Formats: sequence, C-alpha cells, structure tokens
Amino acid sequence: MKILGIETSCDETALCLIEGTGGLDSPKFTVLKTALFSQVKIHEQYGGVFPNLAKREHSKNLVPLLKNLLSDTKSDTNLADKTTSLSTEKMEYLKNLLNKEPELFETLMQYLPTANKPDIEAIAVTYGPGLEMALWVGINFAKALNYIWDIPIVAVNHMEGHIVSVLTTADKVSFPALALLISGGHTELVEIKGWTEYKVIGETKDDAVGEAFDKVARMLGLPYPGGPQISMLAEKDRKENGDAHTFTFPRPMIYSDDLNFSFSGLKTSVLYTIKKIPEITEIIKQQIARGFEDAVVDVLVTKTKKALEKTGAKTLIIGGGVIANSRIRESFFNLKSNNLEVLVPEISLTTDNAVMIAVAGYIQISKNGETLKTNPKNISAQGNLRL
Ligand code: KG4
Ligand code: ZN
Repeated sequence: MKILGIETSCDETALCLIEGTGGLDSPKFTVLKTALFSQVKIHEQYGGVFPNLAKREHSKNLVPLLKNLLSDTKSDTNLADKTTSLSTEKMEYLKNLLNKEPELFETLMQYLPTANKPDIEAIAVTYGPGLEMALWVGINFAKALNYIWDIPIVAVNHMEGHIVSVLTTADKVSFPALALLISGGHTELVEIKGWTEYKVIGETKDDAVGEAFDKVARMLGLPYPGGPQISMLAEKDRKENGDAHTFTFPRPMIYSDDLNFSFSGLKTSVLYTIKKIPEITEIIKQQIARGFEDAVVDVLVTKTKKALEKTGAKTLIIGGGVIANSRIRESFFNLKSNNLEVLVPEISLTTDNAVMIAVAGYIQISKNGETLKTNPKNISAQGNLRL
C-alpha cells in the first residue's frame, strides 16, 4: 500500500511516499521518496520555534515539496487530468478550506493545473500533539488533496510516529514492548501490548529532556537547537579529559517509586553552577555539557530499567529527537541481552519526519481498515493529544 505522509507539527515541513506491506504481523516498509524543508535556521534567531512563522513557512513550502515528491511518481492514468479543469465550485471550496493559509491556496492553484492524480492509496497526516497553528496547515493540506483526488486520510498521533519509526529497519517487534520517547516536547515511558495498544506509564513532571538540553545550551550561549551542540561539547570533553568528571549534577527523581521524570532541578543546578563561575571558557562549557549529559543518561537509563522490570518487556524502542545523541544511543544499546531487543531508529528518522507518520498510518490501517472511512471533516488539530 502506497502512503503519502505529511508532518507539520513543529518546525519541519516534511512529506514522504512509502510503500507498506506485510500487515500487522510483519510490517515492512520501503521509503520511495522524501521531501523536507527544515525551518531551524529561520527560528534560530528567536532561540526557539515561533508558531506564526512556522505556520507561514509550512503554508509556503508544502506544495513545492509535493511537486518535488511526485515529480517521478507514476500517476493513475485513468484519473489523469482530473485536476486541470477545477470548477469554480471546487475552487471556492478550496479557498474556504484554506482561508487561513493563503500561501498554501495560491501555490496549490498554480500546481493543480499541471498535476495528475498520483497513485497513492492513503494520506497520513499528523493531527497532534504539537503547535496547533502548524498542525492545521498539514491537516488542511491533506483535506485539500483528499477533496481533489479523493484519497482517504488517516490522522496520526505524532508520538505514535516516533514509536513506529524503528519499523523501517526492525525485523520483528516482540510484545510486550516498552518505548521511551525523548523529544523537545516529551519524555514518556510507554507500555505497548500490541500495535496501537499504548499506555503511558511514566512521564516528565516538568521539562522534557530535549527542552532541558536546549535550555542548558542557551545558558552556555550556544545556538538553538541546543541538543546537538551539547552532545558535541560533551563528546569533546570525553576525548580530551578521559574519565575525569569536573562537574557532577543532581539526578532528580532517579530513585523515586514511580516511573516519572523531572529535569527542571537539573537545569537549575546547571544555571547556579554557571552563575558562580566568573568566566565560562570553551573548556568549562565542554565540562558542563558532559556533566549535564551524564546526569541525563543516568536518569533515563535507570528509569527505563525499572520500567522494563515492571512490564516484562521483550523489546525496548527508543524514539524522538534526543536519541540522535550518540552517548544516549550507546547507553541503551548496552542494555541489549538475550531477553531484550533494543530498537533505535536510524539517525535520519530520529528527529521529526514524515516517514514515521506514514508508517504509523499504515499500522493503523492494518489494524483497522475502517480508519480509511473517516470523514475528513472530523479531523482537527489537537495540540495536547496524548497516546
Ligand atoms: O523529536 P524532535 O525532532 O521534535 C519534537 O517533537 O520535539 O526532537 C527535537 C529535540 C530538540 O530538543 C533537540 O535539541 C533534541 O531533540 N536533539 C538532541 C540531539 N539532537 C536533537 N538532544 C541531544 N543530543 C542530540 N544529539
Ligand atoms: Zn517529534
């Protein structure tokens, strides 16, 4: 089954075309093509994602990305040219649908006369969690394509996307499984009894782990997003300083009875340390980055081990942007044993992307084909959507 994936929940405008086969028992995926526009450089000057700007960039870039994505895709010749003759009524409908995304409407009107209906069986789009303004652009884009080409829409939870992102490379997932999701907005432990059966069993009480990386980076005067910067500095310190640990930071809630996390105390402790140092040199930045990263790794691994014991999971899946961090990847790979498979997505699928959304769409359709009958009118953005 060929699926078009659309992801616009934050600052990446991402599209993809994948082929899914094998159903729920042995899902297999081929990524046919991807098209991505990263807004990171645009948001950098604000030190974080600016929702209005994210929305406008998504609106401007979706159609050019689609054009690129479909440029060498076979179209369904039976239905070819359907879009060259858009009636006034259809144009009015689209204008109404996209009245808050004028850039999207304009680019679509230019593109449609040159486009044929592509050979795609479903459109998977993120409907939450994320920035609502940004989510709406992707959703309305999906609705417009559904209206023109009559391709059904599957609405996808972004966090489910981060979980299933391992399926492009994993052979088989044995259940029960446990997922640790670590991104800029989330830190969650999720018990998975089977595909689409998710239960959040632990989460952060304050900052998400990626958020803590970004905030500590800002304290050190590093550009946004700070995760990769901290990671680089910490790595450098390990190479140059070997085993020496100059700074040790607290590990909040590490031995609490539950499976929850807290990163705000760690962040504050880093702040107080920085304030006490008269001059923050490059070397000190490296040492602080390393002390911080070590504390994060310790908390994440300890809590995850506890959750593995509690759930009896046979597979551990890690997802979300923070697993791009090589130290964290390595620490989790060390948990591999005869009784535990550890699955981590390939680096390109760790941060936000459309492939994981299309894969989640395929899983949902395989579980319940009825999802293809969802009335697109009922799909709306849900900024605080939970698993
Ligand atoms: O999953 P993601 O792309 O977006 C959200 O859904 O939030 O995650 C982005 C987060 C950012 O906080 C970023 O700093 C962090 O992932 N990140 C990293 C690394 N690469 C990205 N954190 C630590 N080390 C990295 N190498
Ligand atoms: Zn994400």
